[in-house]
Amino acid sequence: MKTMVVEPQILNDAPIPTWFGVGGRAERMIVPESEEQVAWAIGTGEAVRVLGEGANLLVDDDGIDGFVVSLRSTAFDRIEIDPRTHMVRAGAGADLRRLITVTSNAGLAGLEILGGIPASVGGAVCMNAGGKFGQISQSIASVRVIDRQGRVRRLGVGEIEFGYRRSGLEELVIVEAEFALVPEEAAKVRARFRDCMEYKKQTQPLAENSAGCAFKNPTLLEAIEGIGPAGTRVSAGRLIDLAGCKGLCAGGAEVSQVHGNFLTARRGARARDLIELMDEVARRVFDRFGVRLEREVVVWSRRA
Ligand code: EPU
Repeated sequence: MKTMVVEPQILNDAPIPTWFGVGGRAERMIVPESEEQVAWAIGTGEAVRVLGEGANLLVDDDGIDGFVVSLRSTAFDRIEIDPRTHMVRAGAGADLRRLITVTSNAGLAGLEILGGIPASVGGAVCMNAGGKFGQISQSIASVRVIDRQGRVRRLGVGEIEFGYRRSGLEELVIVEAEFALVPEEAAKVRARFRDCMEYKKQTQPLAENSAGCAFKNPTLLEAIEGIGPAGTRVSAGRLIDLAGCKGLCAGGAEVSQVHGNFLTARRGARARDLIELMDEVARRVFDRFGVRLEREVVVWSRRA
């Protein structure tokens, strides 16, 4: 017998909280209480976009159509540690910082290297979040996803095509991730976490409205003197800095003086200001170095 899915409550014209603190609304948003409700949204055939922390997201000023699915409900924010196997399961809506704190305190190493990255677990896995000290894919054992047909599947790490700031899971809805962590003295794990945070504080404008790095670090197709040999991944922030973009403004958006790859939004800034500024920065870096920067910030716009 087919069980009835309890349809989720639909929030119309809902604000979409993002770290930039700018941009339009969702025509419809749901905060599902179960995987079935996620599958229900997919089954409508409308565009389904999953909202995590909104930490790396820019929503266009006109807002967006379809469904925004927010996994910030208790159904998706569980964190469970198996003390015997050291496996940790976390719902996609769980806060990455909370997961790092819980696992570090439990004396489980692997995730503390992501200290200071604002994200939900699902968002971090989807983008393979990382930085100087490593990336989340190093600790993943498997993920539980709902595919575009509404089917629930579990994918082992070997089936996931992780790359630099990508997972290949972008078309799926990640509902849970399982991590294989390594037991270690909690004090040591926490010390590494503090080192990551300290590095961030020194080098990034953490207090301002920003979405972290605006662009992915590019791989050089040709050697550039003083920057690096062909085939190396270099800091987009450094290229942006050397191209003289720090302090550049468009409306209420500005290239941070602290780190060139951070765009900050002042009060009253529009999403368009940030998009214009990203385009201008990319143009200047291309003119100066012949390097094409690719956005790391995800931009949500209406479908044409
Ligand atoms: N640099 C400059 N000018 C700048 C920025 C950087 O000269 O404006 C120089 C730095 O002095 C340093 C080098 O460039 O010598 C590298 O800088 P940094 O250590 O800040 O690293 P990054 O490559 O610019 C990456 C990640 C960050 C992550 C940091 C630190 C990407 C696109 N960026 O930046 O990730 O926090 O390493 O781990 O991968 C993010 O993805 O949102 C993000 C912030």
